[in-house]
Amino acid sequence: MATSKSLLLFLALVATCAVIVSGHNITDILKDFPEYSDFSSYLQQTRLADEINSRQTITVLVVSNGALSPVVAKHPLSVIKNFLSLHIVLDYYDPAKLHKISNGTTLSTTLYQTTGNAPGNLGFVNITDLQGGKVKFGSAVPGSKLDSSYTKSVKQIPYNISVIEISAPIIAPGILTAQAPSASDVNITALLEKAGCKTFASMLVSSGVIKNYETAVEKGLTIFAPNDEAFKADGVPDLSKLTNAEVVSLLLYHAVADYTPIGALKTTKDPIDTLATSRAGKFDITTTTAGDAVTLHTGVGPSRIADTVLDATPLAIFTVDSLLLPSELFGKSPSPAPAPEPVSSPTPTPSLAPSPAPTAKAPSPLAASPPAPPADTPEGSPANAPTAEAQTSTPGSSAVHVKASVVIVVAAIATTVISSLFLS
Ligand SMILES: *[C@@H]1O[C@H](CO)[C@@H](O)[C@H](O)[C@H]1NC(C)=O
Ligand SMILES: *[C@@H]1O[C@H](CO)[C@@H](O)[C@H](O)[C@H]1NC(C)=O
Ligand SMILES: *[C@@H]1O[C@H](CO)[C@@H](O)[C@H](O)[C@H]1NC(C)=O
Ligand SMILES: *[C@@H]1O[C@H](CO)[C@@H](O)[C@H](O)[C@H]1NC(C)=O
Ligand SMILES: *[C@@H]1O[C@H](CO)[C@@H](O)[C@H](O)[C@H]1NC(C)=O
Repeated sequence: MATSKSLLLFLALVATCAVIVSGHNITDILKDFPEYSDFSSYLQQTRLADEINSRQTITVLVVSNGALSPVVAKHPLSVIKNFLSLHIVLDYYDPAKLHKISNGTTLSTTLYQTTGNAPGNLGFVNITDLQGGKVKFGSAVPGSKLDSSYTKSVKQIPYNISVIEISAPIIAPGILTAQAPSASDVNITALLEKAGCKTFASMLVSSGVIKNYETAVEKGLTIFAPNDEAFKADGVPDLSKLTNAEVVSLLLYHAVADYTPIGALKTTKDPIDTLATSRAGKFDITTTTAGDAVTLHTGVGPSRIADTVLDATPLAIFTVDSLLLPSELFGKSPSPAPAPEPVSSPTPTPSLAPSPAPTAKAPSPLAASPPAPPADTPEGSPANAPTAEAQTSTPGSSAVHVKASVVIVVAAIATTVISSLFLS
């Protein structure tokens, strides 16, 4: 049967394509190298691994366990996260490109720059190709020493991810001595008020749910706080009609008992339990990603993540631009729940996100993304335009790629099935 054979072939081919677009996994890459096990473990604990996996065009500068431990020992995870972020460069540098840096020196953007906490050149690394072929790395803050050298290549997936070993960690001035607030000292109410979420904050206090949040912080907590406009938006249900117990559920629904920074939200595929979840499948949320915009879905409606208020392991606080309305309290919307990807969509344009990345209003740290093409173009002076660079949008986001490939898979299967029907 020629048709069934070609059908099998076709499906195999399609399956292969679907696997290729799934992207890289830094944990998987590093697991074959025990000498970087500490580095990899910290990437996982800080969820930077998710951030790396969710980005295209990235270079990870790894250091061996022996070089890392003396530097990070005794520091809290939130400090280690900032420090490690300086080792994640938002561009693709393989050994060949390192030796072809124009004029021999360049400043390259790191993930730390995207946090919004990096004044001046703090979020950049200086990469300098010295005469004689030695490539040096250091903080781009003026006066910093180039104390770290390229030692060897670890792994390259061309133009997607490059992992290279450097001899010593890059230590920017102040990065390890910055006073990181301990999560239990953070005044959540005050932070929320300052971030424009006064209504939400006062509901947390009056209902007592703030105590649930505070108790959960130490083991990891993520808060999705609707801003004050969200409570005034058209179509918001009359919350005064809710019972006290329902208000408590609604507020618990706006937090997750886990530290899930933006990179983790981008890579999460399964529904996420909230503090309101008491049974599997109840009071959960799903996420979709379009470029750098992450949207939460409740089954009733979408809500876009607007800003990061705080990202300090183990606590993450985001503002969202609509209330999260659990279907358990507010019923299903007449239009189908958006949880599964719209497989039948003919275009790779995500229709679910109310406002995709490019229209994001504020220059929020979430809008940061790597410079799109892996070209050899020199970076502009970061002191002049770091935010502009950090806002470059990536047209080829992984979510879009995956979606496009799903469309292709469905189309291919349909074509094959139809043609086999005709031929038999
Ligand atoms: C690089 O990433 C893109 C987008 O995710 C993917 O289409 C491509 O196949 C990847 N390249 C390799 C060599 O894995
Ligand atoms: C990445 O690889 C690690 C180790 O192989 C695995 O445990 C983890 O599930 C992978 N993550 C994803 C998102 O595939
Ligand atoms: C390279 O150096 C020359 C001379 O110092 C300068 O004119 C030029 O702008 C530099 N190019 C880049 C891309 O920095
Ligand atoms: C990188 O650092 C070296 C040494 O401090 C300095 O001479 C060079 O100008 C720096 N590169 C850039 C692009 O600022
Ligand atoms: C936290 O901030 C709120 C609002 O600013 C204030 O009313 C409260 O007293 C503060 N709590 C503590 C423990 O400082």
